[in-house]
Amino acid sequence: MEAIHSGISAPPREPSANRVPSASGLEGVVAAETRLGEVDGERGRLVIAGHDVERLAGEIAFEDVVALLGGSTVGDPIIHRAIAEGRVLAFARLGGLGDALDRPDGMDALRAATAHLDESFATPERLAGAVAVFAAAWARGRAGKAPIAPDPSLSHAADYLRMIDGEAPSAARAFALDTYLVTVSDHGMNASTFAARVVTSTGSDMVSAVVAAIGTLKGPLHGGAPGPVLDMLDAIGTPEAAAAWIEGELLAGRRIMGMGHRIYRVRDPRAAVLELATQRLGRSGVRTGRLDLTRAVERAAEGALRAKYPARPLRANVEFYTAVLLDAIGLDRTAFSPTFAVGRTAGWCAHAVEQRAVGKLIRPDSRYIGPMPA
Ligand code: COA
Repeated sequence: MEAIHSGISAPPREPSANRVPSASGLEGVVAAETRLGEVDGERGRLVIAGHDVERLAGEIAFEDVVALLGGSTVGDPIIHRAIAEGRVLAFARLGGLGDALDRPDGMDALRAATAHLDESFATPERLAGAVAVFAAAWARGRAGKAPIAPDPSLSHAADYLRMIDGEAPSAARAFALDTYLVTVSDHGMNASTFAARVVTSTGSDMVSAVVAAIGTLKGPLHGGAPGPVLDMLDAIGTPEAAAAWIEGELLAGRRIMGMGHRIYRVRDPRAAVLELATQRLGRSGVRTGRLDLTRAVERAAEGALRAKYPARPLRANVEFYTAVLLDAIGLDRTAFSPTFAVGRTAGWCAHAVEQRAVGKLIRPDSRYIGPMPA
């Protein structure tokens, strides 16, 4: 990517001051000190590796966020090469994965395939390469096609799309995917990152941490929402139909996918980044026809949720515009959550490295509410 870089460097080594979000359900409990990122739910600010997400997304490549999270610098050729090498090495393992990639669900497939990796893959770069290769091979297999070997001369984002489509993507599509991968690369102590840190804290290995994280990301309350967001947009069809449809869902007691967040009390800053990325992709000639509908549905959902929960702000989260951006890039909705994992592997691995250095077991307490023996 061009135009990157001025002033973007690795984060300071000192641990940041930790704020504990009041709605976390674990008030007063700080699960970890981290220098990797900060999520400010009241102000809607996301800092990754010492930089605001708006400053990184669309400015640096996915490889660079892996570098920054690992304490290196933007454009570090060693990191770029190591991720490309990870793709090549992972592709060579495809024959030994048994039926792992035959699972109908992409996240099941990703979890099963990643579980086959040995410790030679236990670095952030190799795992980043492997998860992308497995996600792409699964998407190919689902379409009844053979996997395509990686091209290490391409960027991670461009090669991921090429391994799915069979041809190199336009610069605009690759740029949009890079923007997405950077945007979702890390996000504080989210559930899957927490899972990765818990696994690492036991002294277990990085592959196991990523396997646990993939299983955690799969859930619809975490990374499983963007496919259902697109289903919702399809079901609504036109901006005029949005309000009545949303009303019907709430009356039926169902949640609106892509709305609400455990930490953010304002609009998720990543929603704005991805909305802008979709707009930008549209300007390059790619069809982004769902953007108007998406905005109308967001407005309707926000209004209806405000009326139903006046005391609890429920605004668009990252998944809302993930759906419309990844759809415009040309990915099938079944590949949305695996693509989220491709990006978040950067954060999972960085947290695993950080947790390993802490060297302490994470072992939260529980409050017993059952009967006591007589
Ligand atoms: N649609 C409708 N109602 C919602 C809602 C949504 N998207 N999100 C929260 N609510 C409601 C809950 O039903 C609950 O109401 P109740 O008190 O009457 O039961 C109230 O708001 C508080 O919800 P709660 O589940 O306690 O909040 P949370 O912080 O645990 O939830 C999410 C955070 C993300 C799990 C939740 O907002 C959600 O399920 N969103 C939809 C799924 C999604 O987009 N996931 C991706 C997250 S990045």
